Amino acid sequence: MNIAICPGSFDPITNGHLDIINRSARIFDELIVGVLVNPEKKGLFSIDERVKLIKKVVKNMPNVKVASFSGLLIDFMKERNIKVIVKGLRAVSDFEYEFQMSLMNKKLDPNIETVFMMASAMNSFLSSSSVKQVAMFGGCIEGLVPEEIIPDITQKVSEIHKNSNEP
Ligand code: PNS
Repeated sequence: MNIAICPGSFDPITNGHLDIINRSARIFDELIVGVLVNPEKKGLFSIDERVKLIKKVVKNMPNVKVASFSGLLIDFMKERNIKVIVKGLRAVSDFEYEFQMSLMNKKLDPNIETVFMMASAMNSFLSSSSVKQVAMFGGCIEGLVPEEIIPDITQKVSEIHKNSNEP
């Protein structure tokens, strides 16, 4: 079975991620969406919340599974016998970082390949950080993230605003 992993922070998942997941799921027998547990970086959503949001949006994709991982990606891949990493590329600015990461992963495990998929034009400006910023300042996030998670983002943002206003 040809299994691939699409790793990332997914804080939160955007339409750009979903596009890459959707297109990769057509190429591989199984696609694991791997959410990185990074204790040094506090996100908007907890890891469990991110996993839940992703599960919500991939529920109709039978060959897509969602899992979280900590530590090195290649170790998680070894545990699950995954040989391919799929990453989305938006612009030239993504290239250097992604190139570096793919070479490092190759150095750590030469059996692993990283496959890059170009972001669709309509998503090429999208990032989780810009979505968070727009949401935090009350802008419209329609068309930027999957419709079904908009209420979750709105609620999270309003909780944050409420807590920051409390004495
Ligand atoms: O969505 P992101 O933050 O660009 O995803 C980055 C991610 C999770 C793919 C990357 O940070 C990662 O694989 N982290 C795990 C640690 C690791 O394996 N590092 C070695 C490669 S430099």
